[in-house]
Amino acid sequence: MKKILITGGAGFIGSHTAVALFESGYLPVIVDNFSNSEATVLKGIQKICDKEFSFYEGDCTDADFLQHVFKSEENIEGVIHFAASKAVGESVEKPLEYYYNNIQSLITLLNVMNDQRCSLLVFSSSCTVYGQPDKLPVTEVTPKKQAESPYGNTKRICEEIIEDTVKSGALLKAINLRYFNPVGAHPSALIGELPLGVPNNLIPFITQTAAGMREKLMVFGDDYSTPDGTAIRDYIHVMDLAEAHVATIAFLEKTAETSYSDVINVGTGHGNSVMEVIQAFEEVSGDKLSYQIGPRRSGDIEMVYANADKSQSVLGWKAKRSLKEALDDAWRWQGTLKSK
Ligand code: UFG
Repeated sequence: MKKILITGGAGFIGSHTAVALFESGYLPVIVDNFSNSEATVLKGIQKICDKEFSFYEGDCTDADFLQHVFKSEENIEGVIHFAASKAVGESVEKPLEYYYNNIQSLITLLNVMNDQRCSLLVFSSSCTVYGQPDKLPVTEVTPKKQAESPYGNTKRICEEIIEDTVKSGALLKAINLRYFNPVGAHPSALIGELPLGVPNNLIPFITQTAAGMREKLMVFGDDYSTPDGTAIRDYIHVMDLAEAHVATIAFLEKTAETSYSDVINVGTGHGNSVMEVIQAFEEVSGDKLSYQIGPRRSGDIEMVYANADKSQSVLGWKAKRSLKEALDDAWRWQGTLKSK
């Protein structure tokens, strides 16, 4: 079995990607510092896949730690780099922490990969690099905009670091995957999203409200220029997103060039408004959701959704799960959290 290192493998997208890798015959090797995840996630992966895997607790800004992982595993074929700080609001308050964590970990990882002759890299980027695009849907050639937050800026800078490394002729084949909005959970409800404290993101806030943990959802603005006035995003099931990473690894394995980089959107190609998400959730849960319309959230954009053609033509991958499926999985996952 080919070994793929997953940094941040105990996190939301990382843990689902570990499952998807196992399902496609790869052996994930997980690294995580548990800064925004829990050890129980590893048990969930183990239970779903019924297979053993290696885990190393540590930080990707620590070169000695990463060298130790590569040496212990001997033959890591490629890396999927998720490990990063990801809260947009927090990044505004703690810019240095975000620049250090997100950029230093990538630079350290690239140096260690170079040292260890490991040349396949999938980087966890974000549609945040497009800001509010002038034209929708966004393709990969849609111009990048000035980042709205230090978090968004780290994604843009990391993409550029990877591109420049490839341009230098380094033995590196890399793809920056620009995710739209990952939602849902594994259908087994053994792994899912574990937000720290009050969730920033829409779906965990909805499921926590429906579970009685929050009084009501605040809908951030209904005065946007959209059909129902609420903001539109491209919500993608986390298992679809996980499978996109496996397809990317498989594509990079076949790529003949030794120095190669590209960017690919990972979305469904379809946008839904906040009100549409609430309605779909009410249908899935069979209950009315308590919500209130509030002011816009600062930094939010009106509307973004992907043109998903390139992922299909280059990777042969497209999203296959619906928003309702994602909400159903997220709701069942929330149910298991309540009983823990
Ligand atoms: N929303 C609410 N109420 C809430 C939470 C969210 O109305 O309590 C709305 C937001 O205003 C937005 C939509 O729901 O219109 C989605 O918001 P999320 O916070 O779930 O997601 P964002 O689109 O703001 O952010 C996500 C990721 C970021 C990433 C960004 C890229 O969380 O990491 O997409 O656009 F940078």
